Amino acid sequence: MVNLILWIGECLRSISILGLSYLEWIGLLWTLVCIGYFTPLILNSIYCIWIAPILRCYTDLRTMGKWAVITGASDGIGKAYAEEIARLGVNIVLISRSKQKLDAVAKEIAGEFGVETKVIVTDFTDGLQVYEKIEKELEGLEIGILVNNVGIFYPYVDFFTELPNARKQSQDMIFCNVFPITLMTHMILPQMCSRGRGVIINLGSYMGQHVVPLATMYSATKAFTERFSEGLAMEYEKSGIIIQAVIPEYVSTKMSGVTKPSWTTPSATEYVQKALKTVGVESKTSVYLPHRLSILGTSSLFFFCRGFVIRFHFYALLALRGLSKRRLEFISKKL
Ligand SMILES: NC(=O)c1ccc[n+]([C@@H]2O[C@H](COP(=O)([O-])OP(=O)(O)OC[C@H]3O[C@@H](n4cnc5c(N)ncnc54)[C@H](OP(=O)(O)O)[C@@H]3O)[C@@H](O)[C@H]2O)c1
Repeated sequence: MVNLILWIGECLRSISILGLSYLEWIGLLWTLVCIGYFTPLILNSIYCIWIAPILRCYTDLRTMGKWAVITGASDGIGKAYAEEIARLGVNIVLISRSKQKLDAVAKEIAGEFGVETKVIVTDFTDGLQVYEKIEKELEGLEIGILVNNVGIFYPYVDFFTELPNARKQSQDMIFCNVFPITLMTHMILPQMCSRGRGVIINLGSYMGQHVVPLATMYSATKAFTERFSEGLAMEYEKSGIIIQAVIPEYVSTKMSGVTKPSWTTPSATEYVQKALKTVGVESKTSVYLPHRLSILGTSSLFFFCRGFVIRFHFYALLALRGLSKRRLEFISKKL
């Protein structure tokens, strides 16, 4: 056996094509694959991060319509979208669960930017019946922008059937992460098409890019967001509608639990200010340079060694699961 391997090695070593050995050919081809794979990605990122904002190549949201609708608008990234779009002079419809929080944000926005606001109190986990009420409330408004932002995560990651209240948790995740994006788009897209302009922004997640065991439901719902956005973007391109999937990593909000922004974890405001400068430039974007680099790195690894990345995610989250469970047990014992 050993002799056979040595003989094959010897044969291969003696092969020379155009003056290069087989190892040199493998090295050359691998280098070409890497250059072909990374160069367009790097050039595209340079254009989107630096050139497009300087040349103002992004869409002017003020020209889309009088109103913007934002789901999950009372906190985090949704609230930041509401503020930044209102800053442009567009009226805002805010949708989420807590009337108190919604009223406070609406008052703040109306006071600071002098725009009209409307709040719709809705719990998306109530299921399909909420959309009739939303549709009635939106009747007669010229809606030019829709931000499908609402989304929920788990209290902690766990095996699919071992999540606390697993069945309800999975159902809520579909009701919050899948139905609103589908049905709100279905509700508003026709009026955008009739005017020949409109922008729909859908919030995905880096977890939707890959298979993430122990966060399986969340990762699957966010993969839906991406496929849905990319498909619709192509379907409605000719109708003048821009559909964008925004794919953040960590942003400092309640959901991420990161209270202090840092260079890897921007504040929601910083993230959204940058995100708005990619509308009309990129149909799928992770916006923030460190997020872009990290997602590019993981996606490349995923492309070249998919099995390894899935297993890595699994063991990383398995460790996190243990820690989070112990933390929750400790907190509940203290209470
Ligand atoms: N933050 C991150 O690091 C991160 C990373 C990747 C992706 N994302 C995605 O970005 C989006 C926004 O995340 P975020 O961090 O800003 O979340 P967040 O800070 O937890 O805010 C969530 C918003 O949704 C509302 N909401 C929650 N459950 C709701 C329900 N059942 N019905 C109606 N409204 C509901 C909340 O308001 P009420 O509580 O008042 O209802 C709040 O306004 C999500 O889709 C998330 O998956 C975030």
